[in-house]
Amino acid sequence: MPIVPLSNRASLVGPHEFYLLKILLNNSDSYELIPKDIIEEEIDLNPSQLDFYLSKLLKLKLIYHEKNLGKDSFKITFSGIDVLSIKKLYEMKILKSLSTVIGEGKESVVYMGYDFDENPIVVKFHRIGKTSYKTLRRKKRTLQGRKSWVRLSIENAESEYNALACLWENRAYVPRPLGLGVNAVAMEYINGKPLFKTDLLEPSRVLDDILSTIRISYVYCKLSHNDLSPYNVVMDTERNIPYVIDWPQASRASEDSLEKDIRHILDFFRNKYDINREINDTLSYIRD
Ligand SMILES: Nc1ncnc2c1ncn2[C@@H]1O[C@H](COP(=O)(O)OP(=O)(O)OP(=O)(O)O)[C@@H](O)[C@H]1O
Ligand SMILES: [Mg+2]
Repeated sequence: MPIVPLSNRASLVGPHEFYLLKILLNNSDSYELIPKDIIEEEIDLNPSQLDFYLSKLLKLKLIYHEKNLGKDSFKITFSGIDVLSIKKLYEMKILKSLSTVIGEGKESVVYMGYDFDENPIVVKFHRIGKTSYKTLRRKKRTLQGRKSWVRLSIENAESEYNALACLWENRAYVPRPLGLGVNAVAMEYINGKPLFKTDLLEPSRVLDDILSTIRISYVYCKLSHNDLSPYNVVMDTERNIPYVIDWPQASRASEDSLEKDIRHILDFFRNKYDINREINDTLSYIRD
């Protein structure tokens, strides 16, 4: 079966299949592979109905099947949790439709979408461990106290959403957070280009704007970005504002990570625009 786009897969899923996906999601902290009898206990369907809906979800690749210890067992796939996020954001009246992929990183897939007024928005789906998913599937059958990739992806989305919410409330230049799906963050679409692809007319002012966002994150939100780079700044070319994106790894602020972030961004402005700022002066500005 050809790969059906995520948005189409979401629209092919009916109420029983959603309920099944939720059961698989809710059990994913306890089981790496969820035995069919656990599913049977939690849903009011006869065996042939259950098989029908499970096979539909399998065809859509929203769940995965394997025999484990002689028992039919299942687990939700990344696309499965993505579909639950799409439904949640739809019900919250945040996301009306999903469009194309605009970015793909190691641990996320970023889509463009539209809200109910047809304005473009961004939906970032967190997928922790997606590169090692196959090996994980082959090697590890029990969780043994490990957090599941489902849990890690959910926590990353929550952490990015909470960071954006604090930053936005404190008037930092970040995309406005619109809502949290299961593993997805919906946010304002910034119409622009990554900083490393832009030739700035006022580089010094742009650097000040970035540093002021980092200051807000450090002083008011107790966060440090942890991956600040010209790849994670989108220049809104019309309004000439640098938006700092990609906050899932922002943890409680630490001096080390702050210094690393600042060095990275100062190096970029020194090399490309010949702007020399003292690291210690910059750090003092950010801390106070
Ligand atoms: N709010 C936004 N508006 C416009 N474009 C965005 C927005 N958020 C993300 N993008 C685009 O998607 C790309 C990837 O986004 P982001 O940096 O947040 O994730 P990532 O790099 O894939 O994450 P990871 O660090 O997990 O690999 C960005 O480089 C940018 O081009
Ligand atoms: Mg990034």
